[in-house]
Amino acid sequence: MRTETQVLKSKIEEVKNIPTLPGVVSKITSMIHDPHVSTEKLGGIISKDQVLSAKVLKLVNSPFYGFPGRISSVSHALVLLGFNVIKGMLISASVFDMMSRAMVGLWEHSLGCATVAGIIGRKLNETDSEEVFIAGLLHDIGKVMIKVTLLEDFEAVLQAAKEEGAYMREVEERIVGVNHAGIARWVAAKWNLPANIAEPMTCHHDPTRAKDYARRAAMVHLADLLIQAVGFGDSGSPFVPPLHPRTLPLLGVDLDFIETVLLELEENMDSLSEFSLEV
Ligand SMILES: [Fe+2]
Ligand SMILES: [Fe+2]
Repeated sequence: MRTETQVLKSKIEEVKNIPTLPGVVSKITSMIHDPHVSTEKLGGIISKDQVLSAKVLKLVNSPFYGFPGRISSVSHALVLLGFNVIKGMLISASVFDMMSRAMVGLWEHSLGCATVAGIIGRKLNETDSEEVFIAGLLHDIGKVMIKVTLLEDFEAVLQAAKEEGAYMREVEERIVGVNHAGIARWVAAKWNLPANIAEPMTCHHDPTRAKDYARRAAMVHLADLLIQAVGFGDSGSPFVPPLHPRTLPLLGVDLDFIETVLLELEENMDSLSEFSLEV
């Protein structure tokens, strides 16, 4: 008979076995370290995967993404938004694609969180607020990993969280041995996401745990709560978690700020609900 600790240990090993990135994404990721590679060349490689690049262009040109003007090609997007943003989009497009049908609620929650994070970033004049959007898009990727590797446990987590009215992360720790933020840290490391995206994504429950990007983590944290509060998408959590007390001081704002964010979100609600990654 295996002890409970052994069972948890083997589950952790299983979840830790993060899948490799889809072909085109891992190819460009390895190429990016070569200083001689041009944006055109990278853009050309991504464009060869027509479905994936169409999804990326659809996302960057969506009204809720908030990028002014039309971006017509992947190379153009690379120049304007930078490699890490495009990589984050490619990752989200491929990851959510494999689970979109099964996890529509989580996809909507992630897209909504990304949108709100982007709104907050722009309102606070964060440089490269597109990266904050990406962190929002990927913040709950640990939940996807649990679902993909340990389906029964994923269902058990949802059920237990609901029945006990408990935090998903606490139930995950009990049932899987690690919570989705911890898994996100492994994902970010394995897929080489830069710290300015990885930290806000992995510290979305507690921005004070971020080493260098606490302000961005506070943006994703607030966005995660607000999108649950307005009831868009389904994070799997039975209730809206409380706001971390350091959030508003970290952002340097007061409660009125939240109201202006919600007003702008309201304007984007229709385009958000209508958006689908299908091309
Ligand atoms: Fe979370
Ligand atoms: Fe979330």
